[in-house]
Amino acid sequence: MKVAPNLILVGPMGSGKSSIGRRLARRLGLAFVDADTELERRTGATIPLIFELEGEAGFRQRERALLASLCAGRDQVIATGGGAVLDPDTRRQLADAGFVIHLKIDIDRQLQRLARDRVRPLLQTADRREKLLALGAQRAPLYAQIADLELDSGRMSVGAAADRLAELLQDRWQSPAAGAA
Ligand code: S3P
Repeated sequence: MKVAPNLILVGPMGSGKSSIGRRLARRLGLAFVDADTELERRTGATIPLIFELEGEAGFRQRERALLASLCAGRDQVIATGGGAVLDPDTRRQLADAGFVIHLKIDIDRQLQRLARDRVRPLLQTADRREKLLALGAQRAPLYAQIADLELDSGRMSVGAAADRLAELLQDRWQSPAAGAA
């Protein structure tokens, strides 16, 4: 049983971190925070614009600062961006501040889910399959390194995945007593 103040979802683009996270939060009576949406809210700029103006390095810096601030909170389900785990300090913070759920998805379903996406900067490439496979190869060990639980979300509906997670969490995760976080 891990005692941690938040639930944190990590995994590749299209694995369902936001949709499943929102549903799980509602089911457990926790607040839901999507890191990308929160970054856009706080900066007043879209993710594509941040990439355009500051490059991926600038985005990563903002992402790291945002996650550090979110990790100071409690009783939240936090959906992170697919590349959040690249930074070693962030990985440590996520593992300390939360019970980390790694959502996995196979490449064909990932491509299918992202087929209509025209905004994610890293998908603005001729060969999406190749790009996603390369990102997956680099990041899968990093997700695994901090994961307390893994779920293959590919063949599940959002509701079924949230139900399954809630069930699995029952004897794996505990929130610290109020005031003790
Ligand atoms: C990224 C994933 C995106 C977003 C940004 C970079 C990545 O989030 O943070 O476009 O590096 O994989 P999602 O995983 O929610 O799509």
